[in-house]
Amino acid sequence: MYMAKKISNTGKVVNKVMPGQIPEEFINDLRHRVDIVAVIGEFVPLKKQGRNYTGICPFHGEKTPSFVVSPDKQIFHCFGCGKGGNVFSFLIEKDAMSFPEAVEHLAKRAGIALPNIAVSPEKDKRDSLMKRYFDINEKTAKYYEQLLYDSSGKEALRYLQGRGLKTDVLEKFQLGYAPAGWDMLTNYLRGEDITEQELLTIGLAVKSKKGTLIDRFRNRVMYPITNETGKIIGFGGRVLDNSQPKYLNSPDTPLFSKGKQLYGLHLSKGSVREQDRVIIMEGYMDVITAWQNGLTNVVGTMGTALTPEHVRLLMRYTYNTFICFDADNAGQKATLRGLDTLQEQGCNISVVSIPDSKDPDDFIRKEGRARFTEIVERAHNLLEYKLIKLMEQFNTQTVSGRIQVVQELIPDILKTKSPIARQACIQMVGERLSFPETAIHAEIRKAVSYQEAPKENSKTVRFLSAQEKAQRILIKLTLEYPELIGEVEENGGKELFKIALLKEIYQNHYVIRQSGHNIKANDLITLLGDSASQKVLAEILLENELPEDWKRIYKDCLVLLRLELLQQQINHKNNMMLDMEKQGEATKVLQLMASIQQLVKEKHSLATALRKGGNLY
Ligand code: CTP
Ligand code: MN
Repeated sequence: MYMAKKISNTGKVVNKVMPGQIPEEFINDLRHRVDIVAVIGEFVPLKKQGRNYTGICPFHGEKTPSFVVSPDKQIFHCFGCGKGGNVFSFLIEKDAMSFPEAVEHLAKRAGIALPNIAVSPEKDKRDSLMKRYFDINEKTAKYYEQLLYDSSGKEALRYLQGRGLKTDVLEKFQLGYAPAGWDMLTNYLRGEDITEQELLTIGLAVKSKKGTLIDRFRNRVMYPITNETGKIIGFGGRVLDNSQPKYLNSPDTPLFSKGKQLYGLHLSKGSVREQDRVIIMEGYMDVITAWQNGLTNVVGTMGTALTPEHVRLLMRYTYNTFICFDADNAGQKATLRGLDTLQEQGCNISVVSIPDSKDPDDFIRKEGRARFTEIVERAHNLLEYKLIKLMEQFNTQTVSGRIQVVQELIPDILKTKSPIARQACIQMVGERLSFPETAIHAEIRKAVSYQEAPKENSKTVRFLSAQEKAQRILIKLTLEYPELIGEVEENGGKELFKIALLKEIYQNHYVIRQSGHNIKANDLITLLGDSASQKVLAEILLENELPEDWKRIYKDCLVLLRLELLQQQINHKNNMMLDMEKQGEATKVLQLMASIQQLVKEKHSLATALRKGGNLY
């Protein structure tokens, strides 16, 4: 039931249909032509896992992916928050589209020639208003740009060239010059039938004391700011000298809000997705200089701390963020404030430290792209970065100073939920502070029991060590996926299980499997004679569901326990070697030495692998 055509206020003929009247067959046809994986993939990085794809749920804050998209069924579901549905429901939930808008969006995307486009009248009105604002900004940018190459912009152009910018990058970012007069732009736009109200609304003009309109930006280098799709939403303007304010930006307008946009994202998003990482800087010049030097996966926060909106925007393209804020104090404060936001939303965070208090623009111009890439590669993960900052703050020459550092860091260590990542953290902290890991575990236990003490009547929670957790996880996984048993055996089998009850459970399961029985977890409980191991097994089976990325966790557990086992064997052989030495058994000593070396080598390469993968998830 299509409505008659009407003439829009821009004079173009558009087709209208009332919402709710989109023909059923059209919708079905459309659903067959779009792929839910591709559509959702534009919002959430997805990884193939078996038949399905998984990712971090865009609807709730999580660190391990529990969001699943099925290409076969063309549906999605989040095991964490329960959201789910088809491609239409996704767009409605995620992008706040109405149903007709979702249909419109998907039809456009699929390149299906719509006989009619279903949009609501309000949306149509809003769209045409926005389009008009975008057009005004576009006109303004062109006006500024042309002036940059005109005689009046000579000084501005010289300024930009003096900062090393070449013409192609000036054009890429559409830099311009706002002239020095009071109302040059305002007059120009008036002549283009743009109203005073519009100029005020989008922040290009301000009212003077006399009540007349004057240009907001005067005698400044102009940086147009675009949204993710490349539409100009606002401007930043920089003075040509040392006067204040150095930068002037568009105010909050219906198009622009500083904390929600990232400078350069429109240009960078392709390369961010390709490289699966983004470098987040602060300033306009940082981003532009990076680009000029071939670093194209960069965005700028325009001087503000990272906001949840920024993070959500970035997570459509990657989870791997490299924070590269200015080396000055303000920059570092902004860094720390933003980081928790990032981590809460499930990003992997690395912090790049720029030496000698430079900003990225300075550094890249003086040291070049290769040196910059080097410092990016040397970025620290979040916990390590915080540790370094704390070590600067406390006196690490003294034991009490170092203990203070550990205590400050405990909340962050506790936030690291994966037992393996946590173990890697503890190891790292121990190494940096020259404390044995056991001392750090003890501090953690102290902190935890202190936190828990005041709670009356609450069940005492037993905190499991990383090793114990890893053993429990392996038991659960080998029961669920018996094909893993082979690999567990290769890595030491029951020797990996140091806790007697857990060793017994694993060994029982293994022996029963070996004799050819296909045993279910439930049966094993029955078969385990003693009630203590029955209880533990039931607990293991019923505690947390396996996360979607259990494979990664499985590997980590295996590596962690293998490392323990290796250390134990090394210690054992070391003792034997000492004995042999005492007894003057030179050949045996040499044999033992060689085999210890072998074990140490294996331990080292495993530990390195664990550390590399030891980002906080
Ligand atoms: N900024 C702003 N308003 C200011 C100062 C800064 O909006 N008064 C924003 C700008 O986006 C700027 C960013 O914060 O690019 C970083 O500020 P700063 O480090 O002071 O400027 P730089 O980018 O280093 O600028 P330049 O190199 O041109 O001095
Ligand atoms: Mn700078």
